[in-house]
Amino acid sequence: MKNYILAPSLLSADFANLGDAIKLIEEKNGGFVHIDVMDGSFVSQITFGHPVIKCIRPLTKLPFDVHLMIEHPERQIESFKEVGADYITFHYEAVEDLSMINTIIDQIHNCGIKAGLSIKPKTPVSAIEKYLSKLDLLLVMTVEPGFGGQKIIPECVAKVSQLVEIRKNENLNFLISVDGGVNENTIQSVIDAGSDVIVSGSAFFAGRLG
Ligand code: DX5
Ligand code: ZN
Repeated sequence: MKNYILAPSLLSADFANLGDAIKLIEEKNGGFVHIDVMDGSFVSQITFGHPVIKCIRPLTKLPFDVHLMIEHPERQIESFKEVGADYITFHYEAVEDLSMINTIIDQIHNCGIKAGLSIKPKTPVSAIEKYLSKLDLLLVMTVEPGFGGQKIIPECVAKVSQLVEIRKNENLNFLISVDGGVNENTIQSVIDAGSDVIVSGSAFFAGRLG
């Protein structure tokens, strides 16, 4: 039994056959379906949004772990809940007015779903420490967000150990998720660091993981 939740990212799936991708995630015992929403502004790529998520929602009961790489996440919370998100994770770096972070977490919780916050490689854990008690998930980006298939930045993995320590000392409950560059060669390092959720796009859909 593995002691982490595998969250395959649809970003590396064949978009013409998302139903098959979801079947594969179920067959390989994925625990979450990781859904990368990009807006062409917070990151340069545009992926997909509500209509696509709505179409795939009936295909599985697995939780939808929606990773918003978008500006103004506060404008989109209710609509992503509406199409079936179970977790909504937004980026610390996408919020200009930091006092909004607690407000957005509350907004997500008020929809009856779980709230996640994500940090890019250059953002230290100290920047988000004060939000941890309100969060259900903290997503550590181990590559710059925007593309699949990049190489893991090993220094970012240390943030996982740091978060494990804080969670223990402060008796908190959030899940620690790692996203970017996890493959058959790097997965052990993120397991050893203590990740609860492991996102994998390119390695999973190339059949090299899971
Ligand atoms: C990148 C996305 C990731 C991506 C990971 O911005 O957030 O979820 O799909 O892809 P791999 O596993 O190929 O690094
Ligand atoms: Zn992601």
